Amino acid sequence: APQELRYDGQTVVVTGAGGGLGREYAVFFGSRGANVVVNDLGGSFKGEGKGSRAADVVVNEIRSAGGKAVANYDSVENGDAIIKTAIDNFGRIDVLINNAGILRDVSFKNMKQSDWDLIMAVHVKGAYKCARAAWPYFRKQKYGRLISTASAAGLFGSFGQCNYGAAKLALVGFTETLAKEGLKYNILCNTIAPIAASRMTETVMPPDVLNSLKPEWVMPLVAVLTHQSCTETGSIYEAGGGHIAKIRWERAKGALLKTDDSLTPGAIAQKWKEVNNFAEAEHPQGPGNAMELLETAQQLPPSNPGEKLDFKDK
Ligand code: NAI
Repeated sequence: APQELRYDGQTVVVTGAGGGLGREYAVFFGSRGANVVVNDLGGSFKGEGKGSRAADVVVNEIRSAGGKAVANYDSVENGDAIIKTAIDNFGRIDVLINNAGILRDVSFKNMKQSDWDLIMAVHVKGAYKCARAAWPYFRKQKYGRLISTASAAGLFGSFGQCNYGAAKLALVGFTETLAKEGLKYNILCNTIAPIAASRMTETVMPPDVLNSLKPEWVMPLVAVLTHQSCTETGSIYEAGGGHIAKIRWERAKGALLKTDDSLTPGAIAQKWKEVNNFAEAEHPQGPGNAMELLETAQQLPPSNPGEKLDFKDK
């Protein structure tokens, strides 16, 4: 097919590729000419146990279809070893897909320290360690494609997932920063927030919903974002059930108050409607221009310092 995106000669590392979304990515890249490192620790979705079977099954699947793949069984916390597998076997790394993940769902009230620590270790430290090990290769060859896997739980919060939500949003800040630092080396870094049926979601979603959320419908977005023709970087995309959409920040026009003694809690309370009004919003790529705003603020008349809190017409 003339329109096929190809990855010939490139090495793609997919973490957590022994099942679910990661398996889908790995099999795809294997079918499009890439050398694939299939990493998977092989534990349960709660991060218990380990084994080589999960990764081996996917490696065999890629090889029997004529593709090139090797297994790696390390935890993503040992990112160095995973990238070493790529270098030792294929001599290079071009694409890193930070996909490995686990869940430790529990209400904040009942959360144990270990539930917090393990989620941070796998998602945040794991993505960091893999990216850190790949980065010198990306810079040296002036080419790299990196995907991080966030979640709606991180973007919006999710009951019983404060550990997972914190880790997932951490990956947004991490990846947006790598996008900035990698830009001049043609290292493009994006975050996806997928939704798909997997062993991770099968316990929380009904079967008819799961049937309409196949992991193979997330994979094409990852293919586009990691292709050499892609120019997108520092972006967040939701993907699932056939819907692919970019997510961005929105900043209200907000209230501007004179910067003197009249900038009191009461002065803000009186402007609450303006603070929260998105009618003239912008979609910022960075922090607001504080110096410019400050200059204007200094020239304003003093605010009315009435301390009456009125949230009625927010
Ligand atoms: P999954 O449980 O099928 O796949 C995750 C894979 O990561 C498993 O094969 C597991 O063995 C592996 N893994 C876990 N800890 C590891 C570690 N320390 N080192 C190496 N491998 C490890 O789950 P799924 O759904 O495919 O999830 C993939 C990614 O997508 C995860 O990061 C998850 O948080 C994220 N995600 C998934 C959503 C969904 O709807 N399925 C929603 C939002 C995010």
